[in-house]
Amino acid sequence: MTELEWGRHYVAVEPTAFRVEYAINPFMDPDDQPDAALAHAQWTEMVRVLRGLGARVDVVGQREDAPDMVYAMNLGLALPGPADDRVVMSHMRYPQRRMETGSAEAWFAGRGWTTSYVGRDGVGPHLEAGDAFAFGGDLVVGHGPRTEELALKTLATDLDVRVRGLRITHPAMYHLDLAFCPLDDRRALVCPAALDDASAAALLDLVPEPLVLSEEEALTTFCANSVVVGRTVVMPACPPRVRARLEEWGFEVVLVEVGEFHKGGGSIRCLTNPLDVRIGRDLTPVAGGEVVLPG
Ligand code: ARG
Repeated sequence: MTELEWGRHYVAVEPTAFRVEYAINPFMDPDDQPDAALAHAQWTEMVRVLRGLGARVDVVGQREDAPDMVYAMNLGLALPGPADDRVVMSHMRYPQRRMETGSAEAWFAGRGWTTSYVGRDGVGPHLEAGDAFAFGGDLVVGHGPRTEELALKTLATDLDVRVRGLRITHPAMYHLDLAFCPLDDRRALVCPAALDDASAAALLDLVPEPLVLSEEEALTTFCANSVVVGRTVVMPACPPRVRARLEEWGFEVVLVEVGEFHKGGGSIRCLTNPLDVRIGRDLTPVAGGEVVLPG
C-alpha cells in the first residue's frame, strides 16, 4: 500500500466565537453550550499535534457572527494545481452558515487561489466540502442531507474529474466525513450505515480494504472524523477493535480530545480542511468530467 500524499497541509479556524446557537444536525442542542476556554484549549492541542507530525496548519480568524465556522472542512474544496490553485467554495445548505463562505473566499483569494462556485447565496445546488474526498483517483461525494446531487455534475465538468456520488440517508451522518476516512491508497474507514444500500455497496466496492465501522462506533466516537498524516491517524477516539486493525496495518493512532466540538456535530476532520489534494496526483484528470452513480 502507498501512503496518502495529501493530508500534510490544512487550514483551520481558531475558535473565538464557537457556540451552539441553532440546531441544524441531531447533535446540536442550544441548551448544551460548549465551554469556550476548553474548546479553545482542545483546538490548540489539535493544531499542536498536527504540526508536531509535520503538517502545516494555516489559521483563519473566526467571524463573530458565524458560530459554526470552526468546522473549516466545509469552507470549500481546495485543489492546488500546477497551473493555478483552485477552490470550489461551499454553498451551505442552511442559511445560518452561508456568511462563512464570503470570509473563506476572501482568505483564499488573498493567497492567490482562484475561487469558483457551484451555487451561492441560496441560488443553485448546495455543496458542503465535508462531503467530498479524493479516493482511488476519483472524487467521492456524498449527497443528500447537505450537498445536492445536482452539484456533482457541475463539480465533474468544472474540475474534469470523475465524481462518484453516494447517497447519504442517515440524518446524523449528514456529511460524508462522518462516515468515510481514506487511510491510504487501498484502505479507508467506512460506515455503510450512513448510506442507502446501493451506495453502501458502491463504497465497499471502491475501497479494496475497508475498515467497516458500525453505526454505533461512528456516532458515539466520531472515529471516522479523523485526519491522516502519512501513517498516523489523528482521532478523537478509537474503539479497541478499530485500533487493533489500524495498528496491524502499520498505522499509529494518536488521540486528541475535541469533545467540546462534538456538541456542534463535528470532530477533528470537520475542524481541518486539507489544502494539498491535487488533480493529476490524487485525482485522475478526466476530460469533460464524469459522474458515476450506483446502478
Ligand atoms: N454544526 C455544523 C453543521 O451542522 C457541523 C459541521 C461538521 N462538519 C463536518 N465536516 N462534518 O454544519
